[in-house]
Amino acid sequence: MYGIINASIEELVINQFGKPVWEEILLKSGLPKKIFLSNEAYDDAITYQLATSTAEVVGITIGDVLLEFGKWWILHTCQHRYGSMLKTGGTDLAEFLIGLPSFHNRVQLMYPKLSPPEFKVDKLADKQFRVHYFSKRPALQEFMRGLLLGLATYFKVDATVDLIQSREQGFDNEIFEISWN
Ligand code: HEM
Repeated sequence: MYGIINASIEELVINQFGKPVWEEILLKSGLPKKIFLSNEAYDDAITYQLATSTAEVVGITIGDVLLEFGKWWILHTCQHRYGSMLKTGGTDLAEFLIGLPSFHNRVQLMYPKLSPPEFKVDKLADKQFRVHYFSKRPALQEFMRGLLLGLATYFKVDATVDLIQSREQGFDNEIFEISWN
């Protein structure tokens, strides 16, 4: 994945736990003093290793690391670094979700080697949607849940996100249901 993902994990950890904890995570990952360049593509294994080491060092599950990272990615990295791109996605959560399947096409203009997720979105009601998440990468469903919760916060709504189908159960993709008042 592009270095911006790893750099964003680094920012999250330093913000919440301080630099010495991040240095310990890098050491545990076999990457002492590693600096991530946003525009460089890195092996996915590095990102998974960083998530695993963060969970071990901080003492939470990998799922919770990914969940928190999903929220952080939207509310810090995307909002601060790609604010205008986020704005083009829609003026409210419903509009944003309807446009989500084509969102990474714009990201790809900036990051040509992107291997993006794919989405299919069903509108069940004005404030209730199903998001079908297709990915070549395993085990990122909690990241996706965090992204959806982050988007809800970004659009100032209180949403519930339920995972209603997953690859762990033998399906081809995850399905999330998101609803808000
Ligand atoms: C300005 C906003 C965004 C930017 C710049 C961005 C950029 C990226 C980048 C660079 C990657 C790594 C993929 C790679 O390097 O091959 C990625 C992955 C991913 N993005 Fe986005 N993204 C944005 C918004 C979103 C949103 C709003 C969602 C969904 C709600 C989303 C869902 C994902 C998921 C699930 C992955 C993991 C990749 C996978 O499943 O294969 N992203 N994105």
